[in-house]
Amino acid sequence: MADSRSEKASNDTALRFYRDVLGLERLHYGIWNDGDELTFEALKEAQERYENFLLDSIPVGSGKVLDVGCGTGEMCVNLQKRGYDVEGLSPDRNQKRYFAEKLMVPFHHSKFEDFEPEAGKYDCIIMSESCQYIPMKRVFENAAVALKSSGHLMVCDYFVVDHGAGILSNSGHDRESFLKCAEDAGYKVIKHRDITKEAARTLDMGKQIADRILMAVDIFTERFREKHGVCYKFVKWLFRKKIAKMENQLPLLDSKRFSEVKRYEFFLFQKA
Ligand SMILES: C[S@@+](CC[C@H](N)C(=O)[O-])C[C@H]1O[C@@H](n2cnc3c(N)ncnc32)[C@H](O)[C@@H]1O
Repeated sequence: MADSRSEKASNDTALRFYRDVLGLERLHYGIWNDGDELTFEALKEAQERYENFLLDSIPVGSGKVLDVGCGTGEMCVNLQKRGYDVEGLSPDRNQKRYFAEKLMVPFHHSKFEDFEPEAGKYDCIIMSESCQYIPMKRVFENAAVALKSSGHLMVCDYFVVDHGAGILSNSGHDRESFLKCAEDAGYKVIKHRDITKEAARTLDMGKQIADRILMAVDIFTERFREKHGVCYKFVKWLFRKKIAKMENQLPLLDSKRFSEVKRYEFFLFQKA
């Protein structure tokens, strides 16, 4: 039987929410322009801008590319359009299905740390907001096996720089240890870009959506609250743990705190 961690990785409900409810095919923060309005169109454009930046950064001469944590397969579609020989990998069973609906190329239904790649197969491995889910050492060890000599590992993700920020510090690799781990494993950084500011605006968008959902709940429960005050208080008490959990998660949507506690960065590593 799957443990709870692998069950979570094999059925990612948050990602299903983005795709099936919000209609987002891409599951990363994106790169926003200064002054963009907080609309779904602007979010989708930010995500396309981000994806194009990644694709434009693939070193010339690369042929075989593995997209690790390939989400719904959108970037693989665009990699294929650009002529790359692409493969996808994800442990998520829904993403396996979405991928098969879009592409007829190999899909590896696995966590990267459990993946047993053919040695020296890929010119470039891409981890777009998926690296944070993979144990740090396994990122570099397994990529070293899978990459050709002098192959490239592209990582774009957020990293933690302040570990004293409670729930905000809980996701993402520690930045310093991550870079040390890369160096110890013999990788060199050949391109770097910090996109914290341009990515963080997605959180403002998330906050706007959360506020609207809360407002809708408030509107729809108004009459019930007025008519059945005691009953309403009882229901609220019943759900007190869930409500507290939601309130505790609100700091996750604070873009200013995000930028203080984390850095969203692009690294292109070359294997020694
Ligand atoms: C935030 S989404 C990013 C999806 C896509 N790369 C994108 O940029 O839109 C994270 C992805 O990592 C995958 N993932 C989670 N744990 C993983 C693991 N241990 N190994 C490989 N992929 C993993 C998820 O299933 C999902 O596809």
